[in-house]
Amino acid sequence: MKKATVIIPTYNEKGNIEKLVEILENDIFPQIKNYEMTILVVDDNSPDGTADVVKNLMKKWKNIRLNSGEKEGLGAAYVRGMDYAIEEMGADVFFEMDADLSHDPKKIPEFLEKIDEGFDVVIGARYIKGGSIPKNWGIHRKLFSIFGNLIVRVVLMRFWHHDWTTGYRAIRKEVFVKLKPGLHEFKGYTFQVSFLHKAIADGFKVCEVPFHFIDRTLGKSKIAPREYIFDLLKYVFTARAIELVHSPFLKYAITGFIGFLINAVTLEIFAGILGWHPAIAAAASAELSIIWNFTVNNFWTFGHHKITNPWKVLVKFPQFNLVSFGSLLIISTVVWLGTHFFGNTTLVRQASLIFAIVFFVIPYSYSMYNIFIWKRWHISFLSKLQEKAG
Ligand code: GDD
Ligand code: MN
Repeated sequence: MKKATVIIPTYNEKGNIEKLVEILENDIFPQIKNYEMTILVVDDNSPDGTADVVKNLMKKWKNIRLNSGEKEGLGAAYVRGMDYAIEEMGADVFFEMDADLSHDPKKIPEFLEKIDEGFDVVIGARYIKGGSIPKNWGIHRKLFSIFGNLIVRVVLMRFWHHDWTTGYRAIRKEVFVKLKPGLHEFKGYTFQVSFLHKAIADGFKVCEVPFHFIDRTLGKSKIAPREYIFDLLKYVFTARAIELVHSPFLKYAITGFIGFLINAVTLEIFAGILGWHPAIAAAASAELSIIWNFTVNNFWTFGHHKITNPWKVLVKFPQFNLVSFGSLLIISTVVWLGTHFFGNTTLVRQASLIFAIVFFVIPYSYSMYNIFIWKRWHISFLSKLQEKAG
């Protein structure tokens, strides 16, 4: 039988841990037939004597273990606990769960069903239908939680996961084993966000199950808001920057910028120095820039998807020209509208040009390249559709 361990980190939870263990042992575990359920309390030598309470509970139930260590923060406690659960307890799946009864234990069977359906990580979510944060939380705590989640979703551009900071989760051990080398950095509450983000980035399947978060009645929250906010912002911004640098986007932008310079310089050479007709000079310089963009994007930006078969190039290059023609239409329309409404001055022309490029040409051409020319997105869209279909 597969084994599941409920990992409960504790720091001064003497008044809560016994109640939670009683509920798990008496009411929840007997309902679960297809997992051998165990409890691991990860205590950081709580001065209130939480460990003594746990040792007493261990006399009554044989499926409880205690792991004691130095206090280094919530994330560090979880990493230690997950290691212990795998190595010492043979866990296949583990739960993250607060000791203070904030996480409704009745949801555990539902989490396990999702794991059995094939999900790698199940997130207990407060910000979806059927979930909530406590009404009696102070306004600061509410704003802190709501905006914290919003910032994470916006900066990481991952909108389809709604609760990033929550500490109620079920995780297949393979996820932890794979992510562990990158987890040491955030030892505090930011661990939750970084863990979920890395799991998604690594392609693990994640789903959400709603739950109502109940405010603790005994003891105090250990969150230090300033440190948490600082850590969280640091994580999301650095992680996003790294993602951008590693995605083809930056290479695409550099290539496009040089392409633009090629266009401008050769236009001057053809029309100014060689005395060609301006229309012909413009067309020739634009085509040179298109050839540059196609070649460099093919071998560098989208190098993983590069087109090398000459016959295919013969098909793709005209397509690429067609996409570029779209950019040209966008620019001429925007510049025309800009000068029409704001006057035909250098400022308006240049501002319209930049506006057109930043807001329309870049999103347009980058998506067209990814979807139609190098088919980098098309493939993942298709496989997602296929997954859904069957
Ligand atoms: N071992 C150990 N070491 N346990 C800790 C530590 C630590 O440094 N810090 C906190 N804990 C334990 C607490 O004893 C509790 O069981 C659990 O971790 C959650 O801590 P709380 O102090 O109750 O956190 P909270 O209720 O304010 O925060 C909840 O919401 C956050 C954000 O929405 C938790 O669910 C967090 O996990 C979540 O990130
Ligand atoms: Mn709590």
